[in-house]
Amino acid sequence: MPEPATGARSGARPGARTHRLRVVEVIAETADAHSLVLQAPSESADRFAYRPGQFLTLKLPGADGGPVARCYSLASSPDTGEPLKITVKRVAGGYGSNWVCDHLAAGDELEVLPPAGTFTPASLDGDLLLVAGGSGITPVLSIAKSVLAGGRGRVVLLYANRDESSVVFRDELRTLAEDHPHRLLVVHWLESLQGLPTVDRLAAALAPYTGREAFVCGPEPLMDAVEQALRSLGAPGDRIHRERFFSLGADVFDTPAVPLGAAAGDGGTAEVELDGVTHTVAWPSATPLLDVLLAAGVDAPFSCREGACSACTCRVVAGEVKMLRNDVLDDQDITEGYVLACQALPLTDRVEITYS
Ligand SMILES: Cc1cc2nc3c(=O)[nH]c(=O)nc-3n(C[C@H](O)[C@H](O)[C@H](O)COP(=O)(O)OP(=O)(O)OC[C@H]3O[C@@H](n4cnc5c(N)ncnc54)[C@H](O)[C@@H]3O)c2cc1C
Ligand code: FES
Repeated sequence: MPEPATGARSGARPGARTHRLRVVEVIAETADAHSLVLQAPSESADRFAYRPGQFLTLKLPGADGGPVARCYSLASSPDTGEPLKITVKRVAGGYGSNWVCDHLAAGDELEVLPPAGTFTPASLDGDLLLVAGGSGITPVLSIAKSVLAGGRGRVVLLYANRDESSVVFRDELRTLAEDHPHRLLVVHWLESLQGLPTVDRLAAALAPYTGREAFVCGPEPLMDAVEQALRSLGAPGDRIHRERFFSLGADVFDTPAVPLGAAAGDGGTAEVELDGVTHTVAWPSATPLLDVLLAAGVDAPFSCREGACSACTCRVVAGEVKMLRNDVLDDQDITEGYVLACQALPLTDRVEITYS
């Protein structure tokens, strides 16, 4: 079951969407990975409360003058008192990652959407199996630090990299393991020494930990291999959580145009509970719920707006909807009533939705 999509939202200006965060420090983690330490202005600080594993969506200037949206997971933990930190690894030929690494310096400002995402443990007290590949370490490190600082769970982290020089956070991981010798085990997998992590070899390495809830983030082939390995060991699919890194396509920052038909009886009515406030909005039959909410000035969470990231997940309490596209929710989520607001269209005159 996905968790609610964002951190605390109280105090946000309705419809403000992006917030300007100051770059406090840029840290060269490896030759091709830079961390940005960020600070939210005091008036939006509560919008940047987050859960471990969540991500920020950056609004970067595009080559053609228009905005480019890119997501970066928070590598910091909300349970350690450390400031917000994202880590960006250069992608060969990629626009956004190279722009961030080449252009940003301490003192600059960035436009950012509040934290979002459902790649986060429901409890910090259970034992977890974490698997990361390359830059996929960011949300996984955040989860590990939160469990160690704010919970009672034990953590095993398998971290795959090409070679030793590409290991991000090597020192931080070593210190964490030294500080928590009975609760954190970090196992490095270097392809230069050990070869590719195949399904069989992963199954052998992960076998002692199959009873644990698993959080996996990295290149698609690694995540597929880990999932196959865990399933071959009998782990149920709903205990394996994956975070897929991809670049957002459309300009997600535009305020959507909602057809005037809304007021003329086309479609239905949505009653939407968000942060303890119920909003009633007309819902045209061909307009996604998220667009209706944003157009009405409701500060609903989102990131990709293309059914791929789960930031907009909410739950249908009454009535029926259909989704245009869904790359993230599984059958069980859908049975439990979860839908993606950015893809949801009404099938009944009245639909009740909750984000809690
Ligand atoms: C939830 C989430 C969290 C994420 N967290 C992180 C994180 O913590 N750290 C991190 O580094 N990344 C993270 N990402 C990935 C990040 O958002 C970007 O996708 C990544 O930085 C690459 O973006 P880019 O603009 O550099 O590359 P892009 O410009 O999007 O290009 C990606 C690839 O496509 C190729 N390409 C681009 N245009 C073309 C074209 N026209 N024809 C053919 N090939 C093309 C490029 O050569 C490159 O190989 C995350 C993504 C998501 C969704
Ligand atoms: S905003 Fe990404 S799935 Fe809806």
